[in-house]
Amino acid sequence: MSGATEAEIRTRAEEAGQGHLFRTLEQATAADRRLFFGDLAGMDWGLIARLRDLLRSSGEPAAVELEPAPSVKKGADPAADAAARARGEELLAAGKVAVFVVAGGQGSRLGYDGPKGLYPATPVRGRSLFEVFAAKILACSRRHGVALPWYLMTSRANHEATVAYFAENANFCLAPNQLRFFSQDMLPAMDEEGRFLLEAPGRLFMSPNGHGGSLLALATSGALAEMKALGIEQIFYFQVDNPLAVIADPVFLGHHDLAGAEMSTKVVAKRDAGEKVGVVGLVGGRYGVIEYSDLSEAERTSRDQTGRLRFRDGNIAIHAIRRDFVEELTRGGLDLPFHLARKSIPAICPETAEPRPTKGVKFETFVFDALARCRSSVVLEVDRAEEFAPIKNAEGEDSPASSRAAQTELFARWLASAGHPVPRDEDGRSRVAIEIDPRFADSAEALRARGIGAPDFGTDVVLE
Ligand code: UD1
Repeated sequence: MSGATEAEIRTRAEEAGQGHLFRTLEQATAADRRLFFGDLAGMDWGLIARLRDLLRSSGEPAAVELEPAPSVKKGADPAADAAARARGEELLAAGKVAVFVVAGGQGSRLGYDGPKGLYPATPVRGRSLFEVFAAKILACSRRHGVALPWYLMTSRANHEATVAYFAENANFCLAPNQLRFFSQDMLPAMDEEGRFLLEAPGRLFMSPNGHGGSLLALATSGALAEMKALGIEQIFYFQVDNPLAVIADPVFLGHHDLAGAEMSTKVVAKRDAGEKVGVVGLVGGRYGVIEYSDLSEAERTSRDQTGRLRFRDGNIAIHAIRRDFVEELTRGGLDLPFHLARKSIPAICPETAEPRPTKGVKFETFVFDALARCRSSVVLEVDRAEEFAPIKNAEGEDSPASSRAAQTELFARWLASAGHPVPRDEDGRSRVAIEIDPRFADSAEALRARGIGAPDFGTDVVLE
């Protein structure tokens, strides 16, 4: 409804059962009012009607039959890995790969007030997640003689701060045309009757449409068309929270490409039955991810004959996705199912504008639901210690402290492989914090090739 008058926008919203939104509108600030009418004008009322139907019909999810999915373990077959690496490197050198990070989430569990990518993540210098990824992309670009394109998806709440951060840091030495920023769409939260919720007069409670929305945003922002024009065939997808992600890993890209897979996934063996990661498996015969909270107690704890967890392939949310598969999934709108998250939402009463926390529903699509559409998919198991140390919680597991410790241990192993074993305490942990900048060395091999002398282990070690 672009170009519609406020009266027309209001009529359309009232017809859609949202008349309550206007009862406190006279109390809204001018800025909120503008945004309010902008949000309503941009509303996809057809989609809203579908979401309201879904809300009405959603009972308990139907039970699905879950089976472990076949997987390949990195390192188990060196010849297959070498062939995969060669293929992946070929794709990279030919400029057929783009890197894509989803950074539209709100990071509320971490309690960090700002885009999560700005979070100081490294053990000594406290470099941000974005800087770590930029440094890895720079190193990978140099190695393969290309300017690896990096697409960054943000959301309304963090877009400007993200773009400004890169500008203030001169794009961390990446070429300006190597970076593309775009935002995902937002969706209104609703009460159980399908009425939109307000967080203040004239301010809709909107939230990002889930990381499945990243595929749609690739299409609607023009990024997908641009990728096609650039000759990009494969998209390396990852989440913003894992500083150990091996960006554009040629072994993974190669396994995926050689298998002719549409979309592939990296997994790690679950730490224990209670670890809160999604599990990759076959859901009713199709590839998929079952969220931790959707696994039954029996499935969570079930073990195979060797005593290992039956469903142990923990999703680390790193995917290789064919560009033309994303085109297929987004032709005529995003073809992924919606998930409903029921939460207490800090809404106001639409009559009095008094605060009234309300049991509401948020709608999201998940990128991994696209796995169900794959004819072929590779599940590549990797070593957690080498590739997965996410920052999700303020304390404990998957926290800044646990991630810094995992980074130090990885760099300690690289140093040991280069002939410089680090001093360890009685629990076997490195006595000093260690940081190796990816621009200095981004793997054990790259570090060995540098032929460095013994570092001073009397203090924290930084190689940059
Ligand atoms: C996610 C996966 C889980 C996996 C784990 C591994 C889901 C539902 N679950 O859990 O299977 O084991 O990662 O680390 O994703 N994001 C957006 N836009 C959105 C929502 C999220 O860009 O609308 C991004 C976030 O910025 C973040 C990522 O997606 O990079 C993950 O989102 P989050 O909701 O934190 O998922 P997890 O609970 O960590």
